[in-house]
Amino acid sequence: MIDKVRKKFAEDLKKLSDKQSLEDLRVKYLGRKGELNKILEKVKTLGEKERAEHGRQLNAFKQEIEQLLKDSWQKVKTASRQLAEEWLDITAPGAKPLVGHWHPRTLVLREIENIFKSLGFSVVDGPELETQWYNFEALNMPKDHPARDMQDTFYVKNPAGGEDLVLRTHTSPNQIRFMEKNEPPFRIIVPGKVFRNEATDASHEYQLHQFEGLMVDKNISVANFKAIVDEFFQRLYGPKAKIRLRPSFFPFTEPSFEVDMACVFCDQKGCRVCKNAGWLEMGGAGMVNQFVFESAGYVRNEWQGFAFGFGIDRLAMLKYHINDIRLLTGGDMRFLKQF
Ligand code: DAH
Repeated sequence: MIDKVRKKFAEDLKKLSDKQSLEDLRVKYLGRKGELNKILEKVKTLGEKERAEHGRQLNAFKQEIEQLLKDSWQKVKTASRQLAEEWLDITAPGAKPLVGHWHPRTLVLREIENIFKSLGFSVVDGPELETQWYNFEALNMPKDHPARDMQDTFYVKNPAGGEDLVLRTHTSPNQIRFMEKNEPPFRIIVPGKVFRNEATDASHEYQLHQFEGLMVDKNISVANFKAIVDEFFQRLYGPKAKIRLRPSFFPFTEPSFEVDMACVFCDQKGCRVCKNAGWLEMGGAGMVNQFVFESAGYVRNEWQGFAFGFGIDRLAMLKYHINDIRLLTGGDMRFLKQF
């Protein structure tokens, strides 16, 4: 009798899958109306000797079942913990990997380069560490010129000895560098980093970016410059962009202009960005001073040309409505992720 029940129990145990069915199993065998009690009822009807023998066997069987149920309980417990730990929601949306992208200043520079390339300009490069001659003298800024004041310029000891070098204060020295090696006619832009020794605030940085423009040929006039610069600003800021040239002074151009753009923020009604002037200062320009041609080794009055220098940071700030130039060099991901 016991053997039959033991076999059945073994089969039931195999089918066991969770806590609840374990409890059902306990009730089925050890409960008040369980299989073991059913056997006990029968044992009670036996003779004294047999009763003692079967009683012992039944007791041993009861312990056996209790042990097996205990072991199974342990197994079920570990299995359900594992299940909880390894549970995976395969319908959850995946985490997007971080993908790099261009810096807003680079985005604008690429646009600038593409516009000028389509107008026949080449993009060239030059050194950030300059001699004083290229940065100043060759551009008609003699030793006593105010722009050479210690306040504006970072001087760097020349490891080869001699006069200090400078971190270029503008991209204009590349006019000389390019003309020394090339004959007109040509048109180039030279983008790059420039450095000014000054305090920083929302509109000033000691490290900024400019691009120089230079076009030299036989019969170049201010009208050519105006046409190019109009086209450039309209392509960068849209057909409504309006430019004006304001008389100014630079040692390396004659005549010289300040280039203003009608404020794109307020349509010239006056706002904080243009300080209620309706116009934004975009950069300097002018007809190349013949002194500069001579510095580069050209013969005086043989060529004409225009030159200009614009701030890339400023162009990017206006394009993307950035109100603090320091954000462009700050490397703050909360800012950069927006582009
Ligand atoms: N180099 C000037 C500056 O950094 C900008 C400039 C003005 C460049 C007039 C030019 C120019 O080429 O013609 O302030």
